[in-house]
Amino acid sequence: MNGSLLTVRGLSAAYRSTAVLHGVDIDVRQGGITALLGANGAGKTTLLRAVSHALVKTCGSIEFDGKRIDGLSTDSIARLGVAHVPDGRGTFAQLTVEENLLVGAIARQGRVQVRADLGRMYALFPVLGTYRHKMAGLLSGGEQQMVAIARSLMLRPRLLMLDEPSFGLAPLIVRQIFEVLGQINRDSGLSILVVEQNAQLALDLADHAYVLEMGRVAISGSAETLKTDPRVRAAYLGI
Ligand SMILES: Nc1ncnc2c1ncn2[C@@H]1O[C@H](COP(=O)(O)OP(=O)(O)OP(=O)(O)O)[C@@H](O)[C@H]1O
Ligand SMILES: [Mg+2]
Repeated sequence: MNGSLLTVRGLSAAYRSTAVLHGVDIDVRQGGITALLGANGAGKTTLLRAVSHALVKTCGSIEFDGKRIDGLSTDSIARLGVAHVPDGRGTFAQLTVEENLLVGAIARQGRVQVRADLGRMYALFPVLGTYRHKMAGLLSGGEQQMVAIARSLMLRPRLLMLDEPSFGLAPLIVRQIFEVLGQINRDSGLSILVVEQNAQLALDLADHAYVLEMGRVAISGSAETLKTDPRVRAAYLGI
């Protein structure tokens, strides 16, 4: 694929003796938004973990911006510009909102720029500005999801990977979060790989999508094509 930022080829992944992914090929276009759909247990979370080289053993090739990253440490992959907002968010409950965001910038030099980026985050998510001195653990689920996303953005990533950002949140908050994701993508060209159970939401945001079934890509194509695919409509859109 032309202009591919993330290129995954023949990816297999396993936890100890449990093989989960079996020869997966996936691309995220430079500046694009790719959605990853699939039933519970299909291997979506595992795919993101494989890209970040966290918790799983992998084989196959993963290229980021034309360079192999499979085999690198999780930390090195993050420093190259791959941010991962895991499922369950993982905010630091005992730190304030602002301290959480500063943790995201820990690998960066340049305090002035970091300060400016804090301001950008509060402009994107005004509620985080209001609560910047509040313990993250005291925020609502939706606000904590915003903290997790903002913290990842503080790394100034080139690829943002999100694992079910809508999980357990009220529709209004979900809409806000997805609007911000679309805005960042349009304004700064940040590429996004988003795992979602909410297929409608994901296909509205994304330009390209993959459906994983039992560790294999079962369906792929443009988001518009997938919206009209009878299998996707029946299994994931409830139409
Ligand atoms: N840490 C782990 N150790 C062993 N097996 C695991 C581990 N994490 C996940 N698995 C197994 O790997 C398979 C794929 O899990 P994964 O979490 O990637 O699915 P998923 O598509 O993200 O599902 P969900 O929609 O429920 O989040 C499942 O069978 C699961 O039981
Ligand atoms: Mg998952």
